[in-house]
Amino acid sequence: MIRLTGVTYRYRRGPVVLQNFTAEFPPGITVILGPNGSGKTTLLKITAGILKPQSGTVEVMGRPPDELRGKIAYIPQTGGLYPWMTVRENIALPLKLQRRSNPEREVESVAESLGISHLLDRYPKEISGGEQQKTLIARALASGAEVWLLDEPLSMIDIDYRREIIQLLKKAGRSMVVITHNVQDAVDLGGYIYIVKGPPLQLVATAAPGQYTDAERLAETAREAFKS
Ligand SMILES: Nc1ncnc2c1ncn2[C@@H]1O[C@H](COP(=O)(O)OP(=O)(O)OP(=O)(O)O)[C@@H](O)[C@H]1O
Ligand SMILES: [Mg+2]
Repeated sequence: MIRLTGVTYRYRRGPVVLQNFTAEFPPGITVILGPNGSGKTTLLKITAGILKPQSGTVEVMGRPPDELRGKIAYIPQTGGLYPWMTVRENIALPLKLQRRSNPEREVESVAESLGISHLLDRYPKEISGGEQQKTLIARALASGAEVWLLDEPLSMIDIDYRREIIQLLKKAGRSMVVITHNVQDAVDLGGYIYIVKGPPLQLVATAAPGQYTDAERLAETAREAFKS
């Protein structure tokens, strides 16, 4: 589904984040857990086609990511909403690009499912951090994109809403790569879990869906893996 082969990426003024890195993300949900600065965001940006590796290949559904505009929804760790557009316009953007009929109804329905209907006419700077994250998830839902790349999408979401959003993500039934630092979210998302460290980024442990039901056990495994 998503395949990186021999990918090397180095920032101009920074570390070699990926060095001949090879990995596959199967269909369904894959959660990535790893320490700060290990290269998770870089990996996701390369998968989305936002950063171009110096060498190696990236394939999403068998094609390079830049040929898949509109089929990949990327939710960045920070930002991601156009400040000059209202919440409504931000969510509607992929629908407009796809020239879908009746985007307005679709926007209202996803906004409703994320509890942000009352915010539709505000600008991003007029809503909270968690509300911005909900807006990004609403936009991904509305877009119908086949592959979702989410960089800490729940980091500002309150305890009551996380569960609901996780259910929404699972129900969306798309292939997703989700970065998180929250082991409970990793368990609840119920997909593959890839534990990484770096830089350069290395995959140090993987778990199959359902292998962990206890977040504390996953946290212990992750701590051990980070040290290894
Ligand atoms: N634009 C940049 N220029 C130079 N170095 C960078 C740049 N962006 C990130 N880095 C460095 O590359 C490494 C990987 O960064 P990345 O953002 O991918 O980490 P991360 O795993 O997402 O961390 P976090 O959990 O804190 O979000 C870090 O050492 C970071 O300092
Ligand atoms: Mg990051």
